[in-house]
Amino acid sequence: MAFPVQRPRRLRRTPVLRKMVRETDLSPSDFIYPLFVCPGRGVRTEIQAMPGCYRLSVDETVAEGQELLTLGVPAAILFGLPPSKDAEGSGAWAEDGIVQQAVRALKKSVPDLFVITDLCLCEYTDHGHCGRVDGGEVLNDPTLELLARTAVAQARAGADLIAPSDMMDGRVAAIRKALDGGGFSHLPILSYAAKYASAFYGPFREAADSAPQFGDRRAYQMDPANAREAMREVALDIEEGADIVMVKPAMPCLDIVRRVRDAFDVPLAAYQVSGEYSMIVAAARNGWVNRNLVIMESLTAIRRAGADLVLTYFAKEASRLLKAG
Ligand code: PBG
Repeated sequence: MAFPVQRPRRLRRTPVLRKMVRETDLSPSDFIYPLFVCPGRGVRTEIQAMPGCYRLSVDETVAEGQELLTLGVPAAILFGLPPSKDAEGSGAWAEDGIVQQAVRALKKSVPDLFVITDLCLCEYTDHGHCGRVDGGEVLNDPTLELLARTAVAQARAGADLIAPSDMMDGRVAAIRKALDGGGFSHLPILSYAAKYASAFYGPFREAADSAPQFGDRRAYQMDPANAREAMREVALDIEEGADIVMVKPAMPCLDIVRRVRDAFDVPLAAYQVSGEYSMIVAAARNGWVNRNLVIMESLTAIRRAGADLVLTYFAKEASRLLKAG
């Protein structure tokens, strides 16, 4: 029975009714805010390609953590800018490494903030790749040991959740084993399970100073043309012990978010990455799109596709918008 009996517009007439029948909700508690921690004190340097995002020293990171809780955002994910880099990325697992310092400070001063540590070597290696390099190749198995060491260092500092983003095969199993062996069997792992070799990470590489010095990441991150492969990556990571899985980037991969949501029963995160953020900011600055509306629509679309959690540089702004109604 169709028109004129069926009139979908009936349910769209008033804001109250639209809200009552809305299928997807958005709340500050869905958001995870990425933070870039750098050395120094009182440092708050805006990232050129990501207006409104900053590299923050540890003290400023703490201030940011407090603000997140005030806004209702429960969690932050930390990225580190070490004072120096080397071939192996030893700053990643140093006891007093930059992320470890930030975790300790946050857990001390803002204990209610849920602190996630991104686990990767590319911010710490002088060649900018996510693992050990030999003869122009990123080595898989020899990298696992470094990742495992880093996970334990982050756990010792007090991280609440470890989030490996390197895309080495077997890293979740290696990290799980190391955490269990170190007395951290209670600590969950959020794996960047389906992480594509995406050009949308461009601005992040300025933010984290992590651009590869030769080649690209296509020999370890996924080909954006592949969807079935994402299912295999997710299945493997869950088998290896991932508690939460992630799809990244978000908007270019909404189909992947949906497929993973439908096929697996673990919590699912999606990362609205730097390029997604910067494109919206740039278009809005030019007056080409409405900033607030596009932010909310993009986040709603990611949730509608099936993400439980959204990592987004708009976490604070979107929470303010939600509060304002
Ligand atoms: C580290 C890492 C990257 C991002 C998150 N973790 C960069 C990369 O893989 O090149 C990208 C995040 C963003 O673009 O916002 N491997």
